[in-house]
Amino acid sequence: MRASCAFLVALLVAGPAAAGDSAMLELADKSRCTACHDIHEQVTGPAWIEVAKRYRGDKDAVERLVAKVRDGGSGNWGTVPMSPNKRVPEDNIRKLVTWILALK
Ligand code: HEC
Repeated sequence: MRASCAFLVALLVAGPAAAGDSAMLELADKSRCTACHDIHEQVTGPAWIEVAKRYRGDKDAVERLVAKVRDGGSGNWGTVPMSPNKRVPEDNIRKLVTWILALK
């Protein structure tokens, strides 16, 4: 039982949300997210890997964070605000947030 769980976890870690997913990295670049974010390091905004950790298991997080990225806001990671990203299509924001939240 234990062993098969470990196997599953290993599968998940190697799963679709790889930090090196080049299509998603490209979308993040194109959407200008990477002006303020890095996956592993805090820049102007929090490291996305930390965002994923904070909201792990929170099933409402995707919708909440899609709205937050679209409209901007502050207070969850400090006093520096994220400016609104209204020029980014909401579908793309949803893709990005879903990917970010699944990062390991
Ligand atoms: C101008 C800089 C800037 C840009 C551009 C930016 N962010 Fe942010 N982002 C921030 C800051 C600052 C925070 C922390 C806000 C807070 O403390 O609540 C943040 C927070 C976040 C969070 C966590 C929000 C929360 O409430 O925990 C996510 C997810 C996120 N950004 C994704 C994105 C995505 C996706 C894009 C591109 C579409 C993007 N960001 C573009 C600066 C930016």
